[in-house]
Amino acid sequence: MQQPIAVLDSGVGGLTVVKEVMRQLPREKIIYFGDTARTPYGPRPADEVTRFTRQIVDYLIQFRPKMIVIACNTATAVALEDIRSRVAIPVVGVIHPGARAANGRTQTGIVGVIGTEGTIRSGAYEYALKQLSPSLEVISLACPKFVPLVEQGNFRSPETYEAVRSSLAPLKQRRLDTLILGCTHYPFLADTISEVMGREVALISSNDETAREISTILHDRNKLARNEDSPVHQFFCSGEPRMFKTIAQQWLGEQIELTPVVWQVP
Ligand code: SIN
Repeated sequence: MQQPIAVLDSGVGGLTVVKEVMRQLPREKIIYFGDTARTPYGPRPADEVTRFTRQIVDYLIQFRPKMIVIACNTATAVALEDIRSRVAIPVVGVIHPGARAANGRTQTGIVGVIGTEGTIRSGAYEYALKQLSPSLEVISLACPKFVPLVEQGNFRSPETYEAVRSSLAPLKQRRLDTLILGCTHYPFLADTISEVMGREVALISSNDETAREISTILHDRNKLARNEDSPVHQFFCSGEPRMFKTIAQQWLGEQIELTPVVWQVP
């Protein structure tokens, strides 16, 4: 039986990573968990996010995945090392891939990072970027309004435009040429973010680099899927399934098989 890649997020955001994995690695079977009952993770304390992440990993492990992808910046920032220490398979996060992509793109050396309160508070992007290039100037900004808009499927309304415009106003005065979308939900708002920031600011999401990292790890371990048939992916969510399914099918451009999960613990 084909071993899947397990991908998790607080909600629909990790689907932005899934789409890229499907594109780069079309033979890989994916099992995805969106913790929509408890989204957003961003305002929650680190120990709570770690507890939720452990719980999802414990759930996904029953499918015998060959790798776990924490496709949530908040969970990557606070729980990546914890999860790595608990499982015997590779665990990939989304912060280092995004930082690498931004470092390779910036010309001015001034990089903006937007993310949830939890991600920005952790300083994880700043740390990763400075490791790559100590002279970078990093300007970080929490945008707590964005994730709830995305989870409601509210990508391009006047309300969304206003939330993006007012949230990003502090960045408009700075000379950054590269902006990291440091939350996997934010690519859903990329058009609006780009409109507000101007086309000269390059938006970086970690999807591309994360999918490449997954590919490299699987290749090095001789674990790339070799099946001829297209894999059947499986999706799980802990909250109301209708909105998740609508967003997932729209974003991925295909029908999905979705199983709602009711958590036994808070
Ligand atoms: C959130 O649940 O607040 C967003 C997830 C992320 O940080 O990518």
